[in-house]
Amino acid sequence: MTIIIAVDGPAASGKGTLARRLARHFNFAHLDSGVLYRLTALSVLEAGGNPAIEADAMRGARGIDLSRAGDPAIRTDLVGMAASKVSAIPAVRAALHDFQTGFLAHPPGDGPGAVMDGRDIGTVIAPHATAKLFIDAAPEVRARRRWLELKGLGIEKDLETLLGEIQARDHADRTRAISPLAKAPDADLLDTSNLDIDAAFAAALALVEPKVSGALKDRHRG
Ligand code: DC
Repeated sequence: MTIIIAVDGPAASGKGTLARRLARHFNFAHLDSGVLYRLTALSVLEAGGNPAIEADAMRGARGIDLSRAGDPAIRTDLVGMAASKVSAIPAVRAALHDFQTGFLAHPPGDGPGAVMDGRDIGTVIAPHATAKLFIDAAPEVRARRRWLELKGLGIEKDLETLLGEIQARDHADRTRAISPLAKAPDADLLDTSNLDIDAAFAAALALVEPKVSGALKDRHRG
């Protein structure tokens, strides 16, 4: 059984960075599940389709090209909003479900563990995960982080507009009928509003380490 760290949270909460750092720390495989929804959305948009329409979204889900996982084109806010739309369609979630559980059953590299981040990892994809984190931060803080990130890329965007977009995506992700963004009852909540990335990582590690060490010991014994 794979040792799984599930990391969920809203847009720009820092969950992706934390998940990557946790994976590096434990030498576990990592999958950012948002990439699957973003690749689906990109495929729909490039085909001139509508991400809110099931037939278009399903064509997108079947046509995802994982070799583009690192493509900056999937990181735009436009693709993020479209990803949020395709992700509310049950057939799309079902189509991407098996890829995610398959990844967790056999993480690349055949190491003992995997870190997966998203919206429903602790609740739906890996309800029996070894450790679960729910990363949150105030919307204003997340908008500012996103603003700084874009500025670093040479993109000037109004802070208020970004805040509005983040709040709209939060609302869509939290209120959709299927697999809404939610903290699993047994997840540890980590609010990073007042933490820089190093402090957030230290806090995340303190929550996760005892559970992962226990699971690693059990594996050696078992
Ligand atoms: O984490 P992100 O911003 O890359 O995710 C983009 C969208 O994909 C997000 O608004 C909702 C959707 N998503 C999801 O529904 N379930 C996941 N496990 C990951 C992402």
